[in-house]
Amino acid sequence: MTTTHEARPGSRPATVGMAPGGLPLLGHAIPLRRRPLDFLAALHAHGDLVEVRLGPRRTYLACHPDLVQQVLRDARTFDKGGPVFDKVRLLTGNGLATSCWAEHRRQRRLMQPAFHPERMAGYATVMDQEISSMLDSWQEGRVFDVNTAMQALTARIIVRTLFSTRIRDSAVTEIQDCLPVITRGFFTRMVAPLGLMEKLPTRSNRRFDGALERMRNLIDETISSHPAGIDHGDLLSSLLVAEDEETGERLGRHEIHDQVVTLLLGATETTGNALAWIFHLLGENPEAEEQLHREMDGLLSGRRPDFDDLPHLDYTRRVVTEALRLYPSTWLLTRSTTRETELAGVRLAPGTVVLLSFYALGHNPELYSAPERFDPDRWLPERAKTVPRGAWTPFGGGSRKCIGDRFGTIEVMLVLAAVAADWRLRPRPGPGIRPEPKASLSTGPLPMVPERRRRGNSAAVE
Ligand code: HEM
Repeated sequence: MTTTHEARPGSRPATVGMAPGGLPLLGHAIPLRRRPLDFLAALHAHGDLVEVRLGPRRTYLACHPDLVQQVLRDARTFDKGGPVFDKVRLLTGNGLATSCWAEHRRQRRLMQPAFHPERMAGYATVMDQEISSMLDSWQEGRVFDVNTAMQALTARIIVRTLFSTRIRDSAVTEIQDCLPVITRGFFTRMVAPLGLMEKLPTRSNRRFDGALERMRNLIDETISSHPAGIDHGDLLSSLLVAEDEETGERLGRHEIHDQVVTLLLGATETTGNALAWIFHLLGENPEAEEQLHREMDGLLSGRRPDFDDLPHLDYTRRVVTEALRLYPSTWLLTRSTTRETELAGVRLAPGTVVLLSFYALGHNPELYSAPERFDPDRWLPERAKTVPRGAWTPFGGGSRKCIGDRFGTIEVMLVLAAVAADWRLRPRPGPGIRPEPKASLSTGPLPMVPERRRRGNSAAVE
């Protein structure tokens, strides 16, 4: 049943409803577990704010972009917290992504300079090197798992932009190998209700514990060998020299360790997923791929793209924007209220969990026409004006907005442009992919065949 309240998203009163199909005791646990994407994406039909039961617990999904923005902008009231965050914090420490409001502001002030636009050209140089070495290893016609390859690439890029040349090459590879084991294990631990299974000495638990310990040791080793007080242009240097302009305080070694873990985890899967989805979507949409190739051929005349080309890659940017709409890596977020408050006219007690799903927003037909269609040109300036404000938020918003949004966008665009300049990735005939909504939204295994492009014939649609 849907009721109407006085609070107004946009120009009409907000509606509040209840998700269908809840069961006593279980609530909506079954659809949330079995088909979370479809379940969440359908809830907008039941209200701007929809009650979803996690077992007996009432939580609320904000479906209207205005309500999503209200939650994101009031980070003090809708804070990071609750059982899931408490678990993540145990694993990552108190880094930027998990710290609570009171602690977050100080951390963000200290970390922001590392992401200043002026530092991006330096990071892009490292990205170019890693992209080139990946492309040089591709063999025409030899199938590979694009998802795994993109996760490996983004892991290497964040490790090398964090530590520049001051990390052994073998350590880069070791951290790259540890990251997927850790992120997989994270998800299992986040959703485990009792937290008992991960204490058992099973093979996968031992692998997870071993990978986390190994990564932590490598990080400590690299931080210790990094001379403090000198800025080498990498992310870590910036953290080591950062000084809080309000208090003159610096980040302690322990805090820097936690921030490094946070950046490694925050930067790898998100960007890797975005790339895997993009190559999947281009494989399914040859006309869009063709248009992308035309952009490369027109601009690059045979050379590889670099940082200075980015402002001219309009279609590339639209492809990235559209892929992030359809498959935002952060498909579900939670917040916990720190005090009694009101959302869409509903009074929420302290400790109420509010859910935000950027996947659901991106698939809402009230916000996007033909939302299932991959249509990069919906982001042409004139058409983009029709997208309601706050509907496209794959990087979150408010004070907790992704600190790596610019970094991540540059990285994704550089990889995409470099691939499109010389290669196309062909889908392999088969059963197709099934999105895997876990800690982030992955394509799962994505076998594709690399084919060298014969430049100059991009106008011909094959
Ligand atoms: C396409 C790539 C990326 C996507 C889609 C993405 C998405 C997000 C989202 C949605 C949030 C907000 C989470 C929340 O509000 O709870 C976030 C936060 C964060 N992201 Fe990203 N991210 C990406 C790339 C990166 C990169 C490359 C880095 C680091 C270099 C990074 C580091 C972080 C950090 C540290 C936070 C926490 C920010 C804070 O709370 O102040 N992300 N990201």
